[in-house]
Amino acid sequence: MEDLRGSVILVTGATDGLGRRLALDLAVRGATVLAHGRRRERLDGLLGELGARGDAPARGYLADLACLDEVRRMAGEVLDAEERLDVLVNNAGVGAGDKRLVSADGHELRFAVNHLAGFLLTRLLLDLLRASAPSRVVNVASIGQAAIDFDDVMLERGTFSGFRAYAQSKLAQILSTIDLAEELEGSGVDVNAVHPATLMDTTMVRESFGTPRSTVREGADAALRLIADPELEGVSGRYFEGTREGAADPQAYDPEARAELRRLSLRLTGLERA
Ligand SMILES: NC(=O)c1ccc[n+]([C@@H]2O[C@H](COP(=O)([O-])OP(=O)(O)OC[C@H]3O[C@@H](n4cnc5c(N)ncnc54)[C@H](OP(=O)(O)O)[C@@H]3O)[C@@H](O)[C@H]2O)c1
Repeated sequence: MEDLRGSVILVTGATDGLGRRLALDLAVRGATVLAHGRRRERLDGLLGELGARGDAPARGYLADLACLDEVRRMAGEVLDAEERLDVLVNNAGVGAGDKRLVSADGHELRFAVNHLAGFLLTRLLLDLLRASAPSRVVNVASIGQAAIDFDDVMLERGTFSGFRAYAQSKLAQILSTIDLAEELEGSGVDVNAVHPATLMDTTMVRESFGTPRSTVREGADAALRLIADPELEGVSGRYFEGTREGAADPQAYDPEARAELRRLSLRLTGLERA
């Protein structure tokens, strides 16, 4: 077991499923866990457990990631309160669903929560990650991927498919992972994406994907490797399926598509006005 004393690790979506397992595992290894949640009661419950189990203090950050203003507020709070950030784990996510839903900003919900929120949070915390280097960003993506149609990113045309919405958002995370890793080359900040495990027994799977086929433990072990394995220092811009490097949808390896997604995401998150 890695000794993570002295490391500060932010996990989004830490109040359920994979994120919760990771938060507890990291605390046991001595890391200071910054646990993100969207609901005060659930976050307080987790912080109580983390306090009871961990050797290091845990701190909570509250934000609904379906609202970019809340992402900005939370990033500001992290920057005000934290002196370092060794790992950012963008784990929070919404599964598939029958209905097309939109975020507070009017963006298709899966694209907003699964991709745009993590994109913005990462960029707002980049200076802290750079200052804490060697440091890491781990994007929890998925093997469920669908190419982004840049003419209809918000999925307003034709019959809505919740799976497509989910899969497009998950591929967007992978494109952004490769793109940011290139941008950060030489900075000491590694950025990787991981499909933790297939159909883990979590709320998302039970509610929107069907019968679970793997355990949260399996997915957590794959994510923990990217978060903490010293052998992976300097490995960046990769997509892993479990503990092995995988091949993502071909669009991930198209530099034009990555640049187009970067421009779109910068514009939608207000980081760069078009
Ligand atoms: N389960 C799988 O087999 C599988 C496979 C591949 C990839 N993944 C990825 O793994 C990650 C974790 O999924 P999971 O299976 O652990 O699902 P989960 O148990 O449903 O957990 C999802 C987490 O995201 C949080 N979340 C959802 N919407 C949010 C919002 N608007 N603002 C803030 N937080 C929000 C949830 O908060 P609450 O606790 O408040 O509900 C929860 O903590 C996701 O990115 C998912 O795509 C999962």
